[in-house]
Amino acid sequence: MPKINFKKKNIKKDGQMKDNGKRKRRFARLRGMRDVLPDEYKYWNLVLCKAAKLAETYSFNRIDIPVLEQMDLYERSSGKTSDIVTKEMFSFVDKSGDRIALRPEATPGMVRSYIEHGMFNLPQPVKLFLLGPLFRHEKPQSGRYRQHNQFDLEIFGESNPAADAQLILIAYNFFRELQIEVQIQINSIGCEECREEYCRQLVEFYKERGKRAKLCNDCKKRLAKNPLRLLDCKEAPCIELKEEAPQIVDSLCDNCRNHFIKVLEYLDELDVAYNLDPHLVRGLDYYNKTVFEIFPLNSEDQGRQISLGGGGRYDGLVEQMGGRPTPACGFGIGIERAVSQVKEKNIPIKENNKADIFLAQLGEQARQKAMVLFEELRRAGFQIREAFTKDSLRSQLEIANRMGVKFSLILGQKEIMDKTILIRDMESGIQEVVDCKKLILEIEKRLNNGK
Ligand code: HAM
Repeated sequence: MPKINFKKKNIKKDGQMKDNGKRKRRFARLRGMRDVLPDEYKYWNLVLCKAAKLAETYSFNRIDIPVLEQMDLYERSSGKTSDIVTKEMFSFVDKSGDRIALRPEATPGMVRSYIEHGMFNLPQPVKLFLLGPLFRHEKPQSGRYRQHNQFDLEIFGESNPAADAQLILIAYNFFRELQIEVQIQINSIGCEECREEYCRQLVEFYKERGKRAKLCNDCKKRLAKNPLRLLDCKEAPCIELKEEAPQIVDSLCDNCRNHFIKVLEYLDELDVAYNLDPHLVRGLDYYNKTVFEIFPLNSEDQGRQISLGGGGRYDGLVEQMGGRPTPACGFGIGIERAVSQVKEKNIPIKENNKADIFLAQLGEQARQKAMVLFEELRRAGFQIREAFTKDSLRSQLEIANRMGVKFSLILGQKEIMDKTILIRDMESGIQEVVDCKKLILEIEKRLNNGK
């Protein structure tokens, strides 16, 4: 047996280790990072199960991709001037000298994977979904974390507006079935051609007398580099200015306009309520045509409120990343934000890991036998629990009570000798001795009778 030197005098009352009389430094989680503790996990389970179930119903296949990718992947897709790339990426040079980033969003990695694994050879569309963590070095605040999780869906190889509408429908169903009321903001940002003319109008608008000076410093730079980004700025003066800005829907070419009208028609037919937001552009460079964003219903200030999810079409991205021309669209929902909505609304959660039976033991020999019996009953399919490290019967029955089981089985020295076991009805406290050979039958009888 190896000797472990946990001298008692080195351990403080609160369990912390002392180092030559000095208190050892405790670690805290990094800023903007969260622990999801067991108490909260029931909400996560509800949200994650809803996501996986919906994805399955609409024929999306689950995929996992690495959290680390080359930094260039994001620079070339999310956009060199996007906030995600310029301000928020957790990036570093690794030991081999490669520029690496923790994924700030899922779409670029999904596109890389689609191209790298030749998924264009599969029957199209290819519908993929991901549930996993993303990392953004943002200023932490309520609902904004440096590690968050997304339910991300992507459809590759489909240009039909029915695909855009289906994504919005899934997002809408996701929240509605979690009893979270949402509003959907939608817009079309057209194709490169419509955008060229629109961006010219936008620059002209912002260059009108007095407007440029009111813009935030970032937006002054954006005006030269990427004027569409001005519409996505969260600074109050920029939000105010944009109210008067020209609307891109007026510059859409016939193809983009028809596509947008079709998406809206499908949504009308499906009874999915939406609001047209003529200045919605989303903060990533790859989008074209449909863009949408989901907010909690009745939230006051659109400019500042927290978005629950968003997405859109990105028909040029696969080709831009070295693949074949492939129309595509997708969306991402923030899991933490969905969980927080569920918690806020006190939506009742069904406990589906409830046990029926508790197996208690008394004495060393009984503990050994009970451990074996536990495995037999578990394999037989019973929802059974234990506390084998406890010696006292009283504390075991207290645990059984807290777990809300219907019956406790009690095995002691006498029962081992007699080849029997006690069955205790936890509600009435009545105990019966049963023959070990008949145990399974006796349990089934009681469970089925609801006795
Ligand atoms: P996004 O709008 O950047 O889009 O993020 C999607 C959702 O993730 C947001 O609406 C929000 O609910 C959640 N989220 C984002 N950042 C944070 C954060 N710091 N803390 C907590 N939740 C956050 C994308 O990521 C796109 N890739 C979506 C997409 C997929 N577009 C096409 N396909």
